[in-house]
Formats: sequence, C-alpha cells, structure tokens
Amino acid sequence: MSEIKRIAVLTSGGDSPGMNAAVRAVVRAGLAYDLRVYGIKNGYQGLIDGDITEMTTMSVSDTIQRGGTILGTARCEEFKTEAGQKKGIEQLKLHDIDGLVAVGGDGTFRGAAKLSEAGVKTIGLPGTIDNDIPGTEFCIGFDTAVNTVCTSIDMLRDTASAHHRTIIVEVMGRACGWIALVGGIVGGADAILIPEVPFDYGKLVETVKKGYALGKSHTLIVVAEGAAKGYTVGEEIKKVMGEEHEVRVSVLGYIQRGGSPKAFDRLLASRFGRLAVKGLMEGKTAMMTGWVEGQEVLVPFEGVVGKKNTIDPSLYELANILATSS
Ligand code: ADP
Ligand code: F6P
Repeated sequence: MSEIKRIAVLTSGGDSPGMNAAVRAVVRAGLAYDLRVYGIKNGYQGLIDGDITEMTTMSVSDTIQRGGTILGTARCEEFKTEAGQKKGIEQLKLHDIDGLVAVGGDGTFRGAAKLSEAGVKTIGLPGTIDNDIPGTEFCIGFDTAVNTVCTSIDMLRDTASAHHRTIIVEVMGRACGWIALVGGIVGGADAILIPEVPFDYGKLVETVKKGYALGKSHTLIVVAEGAAKGYTVGEEIKKVMGEEHEVRVSVLGYIQRGGSPKAFDRLLASRFGRLAVKGLMEGKTAMMTGWVEGQEVLVPFEGVVGKKNTIDPSLYELANILATSS
C-alpha cells in the first residue's frame, strides 16, 4: 500500500510547449488514484515562497492545447543554495506533501535530486525544447519547437527564392544541436551548423557556391546558437561571396518556446505525467520519465543529471546526403 497521499507538481527552467499537458496529466492521474494534488507556482521560487495551491480536475480544464505553463516557471538562484533547498523542504513538510513531480531540464533535475537526497520522493519529467536530456529520445516540447522551426524555414524559403538570397536561420538549443539538426532536415536546409560537429567557413562558402553553380535560386543555412551567431555566419559568407550577393539573417528566438503543443508532445506529456504519479506511488524517487524505443520508462537521475544527450550521427549524415549541394 503506497504511503504517498499528497503530491505536488511544478514546472521549472525554460518553458516548453506541452508542460501544461504534463501538469494536467499529473493532476488527473493523481486524482484518479485518490491522491490529493498540489500545484507549485513559478518553479523552485514558488516552492521556497510556499506558493502552493490544491488542484482539482477543473484546475487543468481547457489547458492541454496551451503553450507555456499555467503554474508559471522561474530560474531561481536561491534554490541552488543549501539554505534555499531547506526552505523548499520546509514548505513541503508544512503542506504535508510526500511526493513531488518536477517538469523541466537538467538544472531542474539537479534541484530535484537534492530534494530526493533530503528524503522527498521526486520524479522528473524532461521538459525542454533543447532535447538535451540523456535517457529519453524526446523531451516535452522538442517536437513542437521543431515544427515551429520547419514552418519558419518554409516561410523564409519563399522570400529567399523571390530575391535569390542566402538566408541564415539561427535556432535555439543552448549547447545542443538537436533543434538545428532535425529542424534543418525537415526544412530542407542546404547546410546545418551544430556545436557537436566542428565546421569551417571556407567549406561552408564552397557549399553555397556549389549550390548556385548547380542552378539553385537561393540558399538556406540553419545555425544552432551553440555553434555560432547567425550574423557572424552571414558576415563570413558575404566576405567571400562579395557585397553583391544578398545575405539575410533571421534569429528565430523565443517563438520556438511558444505555441500550442503538437499532438506528439501532448501525448508524450500525458504518458509521462501518469508514469510519474505511478512511480511515486510505488515508492520510486530520483528518477526521470523517458521515451525509449517506443516505451515509456523510468530512468535513474544518476545516468542523466549533468550528462549530455549526444545527437544521432546518422541523422547528421542524412542531412548532408539530402542537401542539394553537399
Ligand atoms: P533547466 O531546468 O531548463 O535546465 P535551469 O538550468 O534554469 O533550467 O534550472 C532550473 C532551476 O533548477 C534553476 O533556476 C534552479 O532553481 C534549479 N537548479 C539548477 N541547478 C541546480 C543545482 N545544481 N542545485 C539545485 N537547484 C538547481
Ligand atoms: O533551455 C531552453 C532555452 O530556450 C535555450 O534553448 C535557450 O538558450 C535558453 O532557454 C534561453 O534562456 P532564457 O529563457 O533564460 O532567456
């Protein structure tokens, strides 16, 4: 018989589309299993502040389709300190909460691991558009962000071909190239620059020249923010191609974090939310929900926290094979 009776859920770090679907699933699964469920506002800052409210099934009504997070999120430096963590633990005790679900990225899981070490049963849900969490093939929000990048590239291709321009698209991902790699492949990019693979501008310009020599009317280059600044890439291309060659740069920025989650993320988040509640009820802690070979699994934090999720080299090879001028 599970001793877990009251659980809480928080969203933390960079928001990602699908976080609301995850919160909704934690609340509804918890209530379905006769638990009381609490929402913590604004990540670990809200935990420290005791900004904790009991959730009902109606608290998450009409939210599955919404981007962002109804609970709010925060980047909270205080929680990185022992004093901050103690305040958080005190709040959980004050509210008699015996299990916590934390939705976020690597940093969020570092905080969750500290709570688990202090005896608070904690399960993490990987929620970050960067998809940089090892132990799962997908993080909540990644697919939706890639769809946003794909749609943006399709629109940029229209103006690039109209003006016969080279357009550089800079995407997010922090130190990881997943968004650029998959977004570039599905957007039909002519070149993709990611932090995981060293590149040189000489070869890049040769690729651009070769494309135009083949008769291309325009060129699209996707750059991960961890690899280079889009504007720098643009300048380097103009240096060789000459001022008469029109180059434009589009930094997609925060639109990649917003928007209504796509079906894939809604289903992934819903599966992860239920799995986390079941894991807590089985007494599990310091684990993360993951999607591995078509199965939802629980993965211990020690194999995840502080480690990097490497990109799939065969996808990088595919990107080069598919590019016109590779
Ligand atoms: P993400 O979870 O997306 O990686 P952050 O790196 O901002 O985003 O981490 C989210 C929050 O997790 C931080 O604002 C902080 O409150 C907490 N956190 C991050 N690193 C640690 C740590 N080493 N110990 C305790 N808490 C941490
Ligand atoms: O981690 C998600 C992310 O969007 C990264 O891709 C990006 O570099 C970072 O967050 C931006 O951080 P902030 O939201 O604090 O500006």
